[in-house]
Amino acid sequence: MSANGTDTKEGKDLSRRRWIDVVLGSSAVAWMGAVMYPVLKYLTPLSDGGGSNKVTLTDAQKQELTGAGFLIARLGTDRVLVVKEKDDKLRALSAKCTHEGCTVQYVPADGIVWCACHNGKFSLDGRVISGPPPRPLAAYPIEGDLKGTVSIVKPGSLA
Ligand code: FES
Repeated sequence: MSANGTDTKEGKDLSRRRWIDVVLGSSAVAWMGAVMYPVLKYLTPLSDGGGSNKVTLTDAQKQELTGAGFLIARLGTDRVLVVKEKDDKLRALSAKCTHEGCTVQYVPADGIVWCACHNGKFSLDGRVISGPPPRPLAAYPIEGDLKGTVSIVKPGSLA
């Protein structure tokens, strides 16, 4: 403390200014992070699931497949329709319609794969039955059965 008391007041002002600078600086850094993180996240390409060429169904997916008779699984960025036929044989087809890319679904009562967008119909081996789809659905190799593990493999990735 100085004899006239002015140093103390200037010292407090300087200390207050430093504190305000630190708070404002921290706020600016936090604001930049809050703005830049979503932008960078948006610009980063989506992961394809680690570049995996194979996915194994979880227990929950196997239960869904057993109960509903079909499910849509993800294999990297692909949507795959997995169907359980009456004899428990499993099939896997691309779930992306070859017409305009809508997600197809299995119709158990008719035993067909149906695209609701423009009424495209496919057989269980992927062939076009009717409607506008220009090409069959790609078949995915499927390994195992519902009593054990079930894995779907990306076409063309088997050695
Ligand atoms: S997108 Fe499937 S029939 Fe048109």
